[in-house]
Amino acid sequence: MSNDLPQSAYLKETRSYKNNIQVAFGGYHKAKRPIEDNELTHVGPGTPCGEYFRRFWIPVALGSELSDVPLRIRILGEDLVVFRNKQGTLGLLHLHCSHRNASLEFGVIEEQGLRCCYHGWLYDVDGTILETPAQDSKLSEKICHGAYPVVEYLGLIFAYMGPPDEQPDFPKWDTTMLPDVEMVPYSIHYPCNWLQICENTMDPWHTVFLHARVTDIHFGDTWGIAPVTQFYEKPHKIYATLTYRIEDKIWVRSQETISPSFSQVGAWWETGREEKYFKRASITKWTIPHDNENCMIIAWRSFGPGVDPEGQGD
Ligand code: FES
Repeated sequence: MSNDLPQSAYLKETRSYKNNIQVAFGGYHKAKRPIEDNELTHVGPGTPCGEYFRRFWIPVALGSELSDVPLRIRILGEDLVVFRNKQGTLGLLHLHCSHRNASLEFGVIEEQGLRCCYHGWLYDVDGTILETPAQDSKLSEKICHGAYPVVEYLGLIFAYMGPPDEQPDFPKWDTTMLPDVEMVPYSIHYPCNWLQICENTMDPWHTVFLHARVTDIHFGDTWGIAPVTQFYEKPHKIYATLTYRIEDKIWVRSQETISPSFSQVGAWWETGREEKYFKRASITKWTIPHDNENCMIIAWRSFGPGVDPEGQGD
């Protein structure tokens, strides 16, 4: 079955899957899997989901990943190169040179930009072509290389990859400005579609079994307690509270996901045994598609006495 079926065909297929006969030893009736909902899973340029992602500032790399050579990345099905010029300014360019498609991954970082290794074209961080050695000098006035605006904030490099005339202001999240909280950037790459990773954050019950009861306790020892779960659905957002009874106390953990893939997860290491005020998130993260089959979580972990009272997460 093609993955490029229109949405109506997807719904029809899914309905037929759900209507399968329910009988013991009925594996035969369930052998056919529902097809992919490509309106949600396909993220390349021009796809509905990819275009939606492109309306937001999204993190694309860690500042610590940059060195004296360009870093090749793939975001939303597009091959790119990110670098910091010798003046310290960040650039995010299309990977392939506008001249004859050499990979700018092998370019040389210079004072003002990135020079292609093949015939030496020099690109500014905004895509302006500064030099075209051995070519018509007016060529640089006629073309501009593909580039995106970037901002580095608390060790994450954010890009806006949407239409320039729709660019929103760069947001500042209140959870990144709390006293006594250290925000530590990290990323994890996964060989699967972004939706499979993103939906995990909205699933509050896997924590009880996967992270506590089934094997070892991965986080706080209170995680194996079954919580009372309540979802609060809002436009563009799912917010859940998980309420645990710990001895004579009640501990409320919250988690939220705001579309397309921004999530904040409540305290990982909370013991729930001491009275205190609301202490915000342990993780502030995005699930960012590399392409239709690969993605990454790119995020900050929060450290400090408020979110990790006994320092277990250190
Ligand atoms: S391919 Fe880059 S300068 Fe020619």
